[in-house]
Amino acid sequence: MQETVYVDLGDRSYDVVIGPDLLAEAGTRIAPLLRRPRLAVVSDEQVAALHLDGLRAGLATAGIEMVSLDLPAGEATKSWPHFERTVEWLLAEKVERNDVVVALGGGVIGDLVGFAAAVLRRGVRFVQIPTSLLAQVDSSVGGKTGINAPQGKNLIGAFHQPSLVLADTSVLQTLTPRDFIAGYGEVVKYGLLGDAVFFDWLEQNGPALSAGDMAARVRAVTRSVQMKADIVARDETEQGDRALLNLGHTFCHALEAATGYSDRLLHGEGVAIGCALAFELSSRLGLCSQEDPSRVRAHLKAMGMKTDLADIPGDLPGAEALLDLMGQDKKVIDGQLRFILARGIGQAFVTSEVPADAVRSVLEDALATC
Ligand SMILES: NC(=O)c1ccc[n+]([C@@H]2O[C@H](COP(=O)([O-])OP(=O)(O)OC[C@H]3O[C@@H](n4cnc5c(N)ncnc54)[C@H](O)[C@@H]3O)[C@@H](O)[C@H]2O)c1
Ligand SMILES: [Zn+2]
Repeated sequence: MQETVYVDLGDRSYDVVIGPDLLAEAGTRIAPLLRRPRLAVVSDEQVAALHLDGLRAGLATAGIEMVSLDLPAGEATKSWPHFERTVEWLLAEKVERNDVVVALGGGVIGDLVGFAAAVLRRGVRFVQIPTSLLAQVDSSVGGKTGINAPQGKNLIGAFHQPSLVLADTSVLQTLTPRDFIAGYGEVVKYGLLGDAVFFDWLEQNGPALSAGDMAARVRAVTRSVQMKADIVARDETEQGDRALLNLGHTFCHALEAATGYSDRLLHGEGVAIGCALAFELSSRLGLCSQEDPSRVRAHLKAMGMKTDLADIPGDLPGAEALLDLMGQDKKVIDGQLRFILARGIGQAFVTSEVPADAVRSVLEDALATC
């Protein structure tokens, strides 16, 4: 049940291996990268308690020793203080230019550790072992690394590609149902942005996948990673096509800001709602049929996901305030909103030709149901 996706980036190319029980094989998989049998592993406390022993055992089978640092779980860890602590720990552990650092955790750990690896001794190699669904299908692939600033999310960072990604689909079993289904928001995004057949497949297989069907999980992660790999290979540093991966994200970022990046709304939940709104906007602009946004919302609802603004607990600001928050999104170019819209399911495109009035009216109508 193992799959490998090759991320084709010239001398920075790497494999993403996807399948169950990969932690047990981590040693044999990582050994070819190592000059000496020693790894520095950074994780979060929650993931470490569940999976660090499994990784240690997997490395031991290949004679690899590891030292580890466990950071607190949660978005607040993607900050200067924990970044400083991580870099100083890596130096204290005498990680050298030819060594390899491992990120074992969700997107928070992957982003932070990838950035630490990017700057440590002007760059050391790192391996991503993503443990959340979101990290397996999105954040561990593509080389965007970084931390948050008081001024906003992901404002400090670097492009630094991993040398290998091991997506062990067995570790997804210990995710809370809410974290799992939030990550599924990014999976749906791939179907919506570029693969209608994959979206059909998700409509059929999403419930089994959510219930734990391993073959379905491997297939969904593999297809998502394949799509991300193809887009990143075309446009590594987001000069154009890579922006397609932001389908639903302009709305999502405004909603995350409006809810204070709290657990009122997880990122993947915001992506799902944002995709529904992006299809609604596309339909109102006459780009796609009216059935498309209904179909998107029906699938999200069938999966028990947050679908509408009314599903976000607590009060939201008005349409104008949300529009302002969208305007602050860093993907706004020259003051114009850059949007990802769709001509149908699986047919997204990037545009800055979106009238603010149309966005405002979509938001007003969505807020009216709250
Ligand atoms: N670099 C990129 O391209 C990119 C893309 C998308 C998102 N991101 C970033 O990813 C972050 C979100 O990632 P996330 O959703 O994985 O968040 P996260 O890393 O905070 O993980 C979510 C929660 O799940 C827990 N967890 C992770 N794996 C687990 C497991 N197997 N079992 C039990 N608990 C587990 C974590 O401890 C945490 O509490 C954000 O900071 C976002 O900006 C980056
Ligand atoms: Zn996202």
